[in-house]
Amino acid sequence: MSIKRINGFADLFETDSLLFDFMETTCRKIFSDYGFREIRVPIMEYTQLFARSIGTETDVVQKEMYTFPDSHGTNQSLRPEATAGIMRAYISASLHAKESVSKLFTYGPMFRCERPQKGRMRQFHQIDCELLGSNAPTADAEIISLLMHYVDALGLTDLTLRMNNLGCPECRPKYRAALVEYLSRHEADLCDDCKRRLHTNPLRVLDCKKDHDLAFMREVPVFLDYVCPDCARHYEIVTGLLQENNISYVQDHCLVRGLDYYCRTTFELQSSAIGAQTAVAGGGRYDGLIQNLGGPDVPGIGFACGMERLALLLGERLPRRRDFYMVCLDEGSLHTAFRLTRELRLAGLSGEMGYAVAGIKSSMRQAGKSGARYTLLLGSDEAARQVVAVKDMDLGTQTDVAQSQLVDALGGKN
Ligand code: HAM
Repeated sequence: MSIKRINGFADLFETDSLLFDFMETTCRKIFSDYGFREIRVPIMEYTQLFARSIGTETDVVQKEMYTFPDSHGTNQSLRPEATAGIMRAYISASLHAKESVSKLFTYGPMFRCERPQKGRMRQFHQIDCELLGSNAPTADAEIISLLMHYVDALGLTDLTLRMNNLGCPECRPKYRAALVEYLSRHEADLCDDCKRRLHTNPLRVLDCKKDHDLAFMREVPVFLDYVCPDCARHYEIVTGLLQENNISYVQDHCLVRGLDYYCRTTFELQSSAIGAQTAVAGGGRYDGLIQNLGGPDVPGIGFACGMERLALLLGERLPRRRDFYMVCLDEGSLHTAFRLTRELRLAGLSGEMGYAVAGIKSSMRQAGKSGARYTLLLGSDEAARQVVAVKDMDLGTQTDVAQSQLVDALGGKN
């Protein structure tokens, strides 16, 4: 019996991997233009790191992590996101002592044991970006502007930016109390999950898909009425900067995010074109996080894009077209065919070679399948005359080219 792939884990063949490559190269270019530097962190960390940063009451920590004990019995988990690992690395390397602002990005696989569906995988990939060391509203606006620049460069325009202000540890308890008081009056009507959340993580009731449309949810207290003057001012400047720069957004009072470390500015980029999983990116400010992990009191803000969801929106990308396909029609010419192929490649041309002698029909079929611009034919007749027959697959024409002129004729570099 053959061994199956694990549910929720995917193989990426050429078309997907071309898309991933496109997302990664575009991200490298644009993020580094904004002064961000790449960091690579481990895919496994001590479980405690995720519990302390993401929050012990979140779905991610409660039920979605792949956790294993090491040989001493200490739990370690596959990373469900990149932020926590980057914070740990930032603290371990004492980056705060070396630079006042650190701008970091990474991309790679993340793991969450969720129920798989379109756009929701157990192994998925994120492009993650973090700006540490500034609590200025301009940093928030820059991060959002970078995200919008990035998706625009990918060619994605039909996305909605949703924003909310989650306040700070000063003002959030007041909002939380008002919310709990309000929701408790309607507890009987809440779904079973929200009845539990009301006591453990009441903010998450706001983004429950089941309860969202209940009539009393329209009257639910909103954060903006409870935030302190500093948080209100911060958010006003951020949203003002977005408006001045024509970055449109929707104020979403129910946007609370699924991770506990956020404060003040939070945002999500959503698409209605990829099914139930609408968020293609999400992020926000997390000012207490580094200190909470035992580091200095350094503020931060960041976001992550889901690469599988971006890929769903991008559709297919065509593979790169190769320059040539070398067909050898005669055993005695194989060494020459191999040498010429190598010379063409060293001259910067791309192409493949049939490894063994085959009939002209099947060789031409193979050459056609490769999609290369030129098919190069080498038989005993061509070998004797020291030429190669070059067939232009677009024009259908065929000419003999001296072997010594082949690189030039195909446009290679000498
Ligand atoms: P998140 O909202 O949990 O935030 O994930 C960010 C994005 O990752 C989502 O918008 C979605 O596109 C993608 N994603 C999440 N789970 C899955 C899944 N199971 N399958 C496919 N795609 C998924 C974070 O992870 C934060 N660390 C973002 C951040 C960085 N906040 C500040 N800095």
